[in-house]
Amino acid sequence: MPTKPDTAAVTGPPADRGSEPLISIRDLHVNFALRTNAVARLLGRSSGTVRAVDGVSLDLAQGEVLGIVGESGSGKSTLGRALLRLVSPSGGSIRYRGRELVGMHESQLRPMRRKLQMVFQDPHASLNPSMTVGHAISDALRIHRLYPGDRDRAVADALERVGLAPAERFVPKYPGELSGGQKQRAVIARAISLGPELLVADEPISMLDMSVRAKILGLLDELKRDLGLTYVYITHDLASARFFCDRIAIMYLGKVIEIGPTAEIFDNPRHPYTEALLKAVPDPDPCTRRPAARSIRAARRRSGPAGGRPATCG
Ligand SMILES: Nc1ncnc2c1ncn2[C@@H]1O[C@H](COP(=O)(O)OP(=O)(O)OP(=O)(O)O)[C@@H](O)[C@H]1O
Ligand SMILES: [Mg+2]
Repeated sequence: MPTKPDTAAVTGPPADRGSEPLISIRDLHVNFALRTNAVARLLGRSSGTVRAVDGVSLDLAQGEVLGIVGESGSGKSTLGRALLRLVSPSGGSIRYRGRELVGMHESQLRPMRRKLQMVFQDPHASLNPSMTVGHAISDALRIHRLYPGDRDRAVADALERVGLAPAERFVPKYPGELSGGQKQRAVIARAISLGPELLVADEPISMLDMSVRAKILGLLDELKRDLGLTYVYITHDLASARFFCDRIAIMYLGKVIEIGPTAEIFDNPRHPYTEALLKAVPDPDPCTRRPAARSIRAARRRSGPAGGRPATCG
């Protein structure tokens, strides 16, 4: 059931998939220093910070798909990156299988990194244009010292698992020779070749052609079932979140304002902002179309003083 809308730290009930959560986040904060110009620094003016993630608490059960939804700048990507320690949290706790990641030294983090993988929005930027697809995957395996005697086989297995088959056709290809959908498949192949447990997918289909979006989402769904993966699925697209996620967390100004099972978030939103987001989903029937922008603005006014801008402090 979704939790009360006005609590700062919302964990929501973890999906009922066993005892220990795979990931447990408590009161997580990520602050970024705002840049100031030289004159302001000379005058001793404080630059302040952006509270990109502002006291998030949630549990992630093994095998579940948690959607993170919210408007631009609400802190979705920063939360996803912090989960994998790609940005350093300013405070709070992230426990992965009971081990605290916040404050963990990079040398201890390294062996865990292969278990926590990320797929970004832009597959082109995720691949080195001067490396063949085969080289990109075998390089990741080399870095993590996996399959030392049989890397070619592991590369081929990963490619075929994501539908880039026959593998020998794709191994020598450079990213520039692939379509957007094929590039995203190659990125996913590289991630799964490392045997991850958690995949944070940050808008993984939003830059792709409409015709391949459903196929990539279908592939992620299939991989989840076959490999027992757990996903954090970051998106603006509520329709895909409804199809793909077991639970959804709604972010607003760095906070999770509501979290709950997907059906309950859609059928019984508790927070006015969630309600407004749902109303903003385009309605194909012009006779029932709602004034979406107006309801989001009104919900923002009810939600807090910052008027849609990121929270700042200091
Ligand atoms: N490296 C950074 N340095 C300074 N500020 C940052 C940095 N990364 C993110 N921010 C700020 O933190 C806030 C949250 O950004 P974030 O990218 O997490 O939002 P988002 O919800 O993913 O947005 P979008 O939907 O546009 O991708 C924004 O105000 C952003 O400007
Ligand atoms: Mg983002």
